[in-house]
Amino acid sequence: MLRRWVPVLATALVIAPLAVLWQASRVPSAYSVMDMGYLDHGGGAQPGASTASHADHASPHVGHVLRPITDLVVDPARRADVRVDLTAAAATVEVGDQRLAGFTLNGATPGPTITAAEGQLVEVRLHNASVAEGVSLHWHGVDVPNAMDGVAGVTQDAVPVGGSFTYRFVADRAGSFWYHSHQVSDPQVRGGLFGGLVILPRGQRSGPHDVLALAHTYGAVRTVNGRPGDLTVPAAPGEVVRVRVVNTDNAPMPLWTDAPYRLLAVDGSPVHEPTAVRDQGLLLTAGGRLDVEVTAPAVGATRWQLSRGTAVVIGTGDGGGPPPQPVTSLDLLTYGTPAPAGFEPGDAVRHFAYRIGRRPGFVKGRPGLFWSVNGHLYPNVPMYVVREGEVVTMRIENSSGQVHPMHLHGHRALVLSRNGVAATGSPWWVDSLDVADGQTYEIAFLADNPGVWMDHCHNLQHAADGMVAHLMYEGWDTPFRIGGERPNRPE
Ligand code: C2O
Ligand code: CU
Repeated sequence: MLRRWVPVLATALVIAPLAVLWQASRVPSAYSVMDMGYLDHGGGAQPGASTASHADHASPHVGHVLRPITDLVVDPARRADVRVDLTAAAATVEVGDQRLAGFTLNGATPGPTITAAEGQLVEVRLHNASVAEGVSLHWHGVDVPNAMDGVAGVTQDAVPVGGSFTYRFVADRAGSFWYHSHQVSDPQVRGGLFGGLVILPRGQRSGPHDVLALAHTYGAVRTVNGRPGDLTVPAAPGEVVRVRVVNTDNAPMPLWTDAPYRLLAVDGSPVHEPTAVRDQGLLLTAGGRLDVEVTAPAVGATRWQLSRGTAVVIGTGDGGGPPPQPVTSLDLLTYGTPAPAGFEPGDAVRHFAYRIGRRPGFVKGRPGLFWSVNGHLYPNVPMYVVREGEVVTMRIENSSGQVHPMHLHGHRALVLSRNGVAATGSPWWVDSLDVADGQTYEIAFLADNPGVWMDHCHNLQHAADGMVAHLMYEGWDTPFRIGGERPNRPE
């Protein structure tokens, strides 16, 4: 008798916990990121500290009046200096001899490059002509007011077919940036819904000496500015050219040349006192940007390989074949010289951990092997809580077996150390940071931009698989919902 029940019981013992896990991984059809996972105060002050008994799961807002993040905009009375209309459409994209189902902005991919001068107010009107799942635009690397951040379900609703949304922000730091959809972002960005954004220093005009190179892989075809092959930049011997390389793909991109160069900027922030580099390549994080300075040679051209297959060729002629790839990459931990960062990392009052692992479980009702954050699977991920004005550190640790390009919205972060080795070069500011398997980075940032911000992996496939957490400022709430009838799907 007992015999007969043993297999049944054994099966039940296996299935019951699985059912519980499956149930717990399902997300309601519409929910606020404010209710997602658990609050992490990073050891800092908590609201309603007297009610410490339910510190962890209590509302972050006990005793506070909440303001909606929709209040976080630039002065509506201020006139725009740069106005752009962008119309998103589903389209067949032709790249080389390949045709694939993708997206365009104003009929092309990449969309038009937006150029502004430091301090100008940029106004972009996004229209959705035919993208059935809806669209949005995120200004990657620009610390816009929260309501302009373009994350569907967190800072706005996805723009439906026939709808529009107006983004307004001040281009407050010169540098190289880009914009892309943050609704169903993995397929939409891969399919072409992105473009470049260049903010020039006050009083400087873009010219032939300043070149944007948006690297993107459509299907299996590597491109620069939407075209396979080389981007030629005619330049007279001795002419100095700035090349702004943007990695819009999901994987790190090696770039190299056999001529000396200087690295002028990382993720839009200038390197302090960059010296000439030789025989060392660069590794560009997914979502990141590197500005390099190249001098056109006395004869012929200099080739900058953007991975294998595409290049930027500066000078006259085609620059010959691809130069050999250097064995080592420039280490930004020691490049350039120190300069004030504008805040003191030692003043940090909160210390967060973002530990990335991998384990079996359920995400969004699907079984599989998933990325974990501090041991938890999406949506049970941390909501990091800060107060405006605080200095914060975050320790990002990766033991997941793969590299993750970590991207915090709304802030630039300063790299303090890697694997315990302190940064000694120029302040190394990032918005996209590759954390390789086995690495630990310590970063710091100033919490000076209130709202609710994503903090996710910019391998957008990983993000879609749940490698997403958020940072929120005490006292703010979002009226938007993930899911819902549109539905909003930021990843
Ligand atoms: Cu470039 Cu959350 O994105
Ligand atoms: Cu990842």
